[in-house]
Amino acid sequence: MVADTSAVVDLAASGDEFARHPHRVYAELRERGPVHRVRMPEGALAWLVVGYEEVRATLNDPRLSKDWRSASEAIGLTPVASGPHMLILDPPHHTRLRKLVAKEFTPRRVEEMAPRVQRMTDELLDAMLAAPDRRTDLVDALSFPLPMGVICELLGVPSLDREAFRAWSNTAVGSAPAAEKAVAAREVGAYLAELVAAKRETPGDDLLSALIRATDEDGDRLSPEELLGMAWILLVAGHETTVNLISNGVLALLRHPDQLADLRADFGLLENAVEEMLRYDGPLETPTYRFTTEPIEIGGTLIPGGGELVLPVLADADRDPARFDDPGRFDIRRDARGHIAFGHGIHYCLGAPLARLEARIAVRSLLERFPDLALDAHPDSLTWRQGLLIRGPHRLPVRF
Ligand code: HEM
Repeated sequence: MVADTSAVVDLAASGDEFARHPHRVYAELRERGPVHRVRMPEGALAWLVVGYEEVRATLNDPRLSKDWRSASEAIGLTPVASGPHMLILDPPHHTRLRKLVAKEFTPRRVEEMAPRVQRMTDELLDAMLAAPDRRTDLVDALSFPLPMGVICELLGVPSLDREAFRAWSNTAVGSAPAAEKAVAAREVGAYLAELVAAKRETPGDDLLSALIRATDEDGDRLSPEELLGMAWILLVAGHETTVNLISNGVLALLRHPDQLADLRADFGLLENAVEEMLRYDGPLETPTYRFTTEPIEIGGTLIPGGGELVLPVLADADRDPARFDDPGRFDIRRDARGHIAFGHGIHYCLGAPLARLEARIAVRSLLERFPDLALDAHPDSLTWRQGLLIRGPHRLPVRF
């Protein structure tokens, strides 16, 4: 069957309702079939893929390119980054960068971060406890500063102006107009160039210094532009995502008191609870962009070649009843393994072990220190990040 390209679903038309309840919209589309022509809230036309099997296959399809030189101009979008990086490259360039960073961003380096993550969490929770009216916005108090602090320490850029970086980065990955995104990317690029230069002058035992030094067996190393791209992707991917794992995860617990009580009673459930948080309401609705290099058929629909934008919906795959029983139920005891909140295939998230470590420490410490933590707003009053990429509330008011 050849797709009827005239039927465009306008995702922007449902506005806030879509930002609030994206899973409902994706599920309705899935009932009609796995592939849909959509207008994104960002304005561009894309092919949306829903359903677990189809999404996984799409993520693994080598005929889809992540290189923006493959993109059709008609899409009207441009990449936002301060240099070439893994999420806008295909093999063999992608393979080369991934190998160089994987050599330095090792499980040991992540494990070594654990005491520092705990210390940072404790400090943030101390500050939260001191709030005079025993109320706070959890995004500001914990979900944002923790991952941001962790990624800055890991990279060795403690002096990063975090609020300025947060504003740039939010603009760059949100649904702002292209011109605004480009300005944000330029500003971040100039800023990172200064940080890298300072790091070259005084290297430490951090990841950025290691990446500056890194060479593989063939003597290959990162070019100055690649180094900027790498710093950018680690900083952006390192905090835009984990912030929402903590917020969405805590929100899910607060909205399901029985699950919250079970977790408080047995922290042996914590690891599994974090996997369920990733499955139930993961930080990324869709991954980064992929473009067709030739016509491809997905679930009976033929998507033309020539740089069409294809977006597999991670958030829908993880709520597909064909893969997960009663997928709309938040159940910290279920077997959530196989979720694809961290993607799938060669671009599988490099930071997954770090994100899991942060979420486990943050959630456990929060529950231990705040035995009566409660939501301080009606769930329907929360406002959500716009756009198809990021899933998370702007603010999460809590009282204790
Ligand atoms: C809960 C938190 C996180 C989630 C849900 C997440 C999710 C993802 C996903 C879905 C991808 C694949 C994107 C695609 O295929 O287009 C990805 C890639 C990536 N992530 Fe994460 N991520 C998280 C945290 C982190 C952290 C903490 C870091 C770094 C410290 C990180 C670094 C990266 C990098 C570098 C890539 C690109 C890998 C490649 O292209 O080979 N992520 N992430």
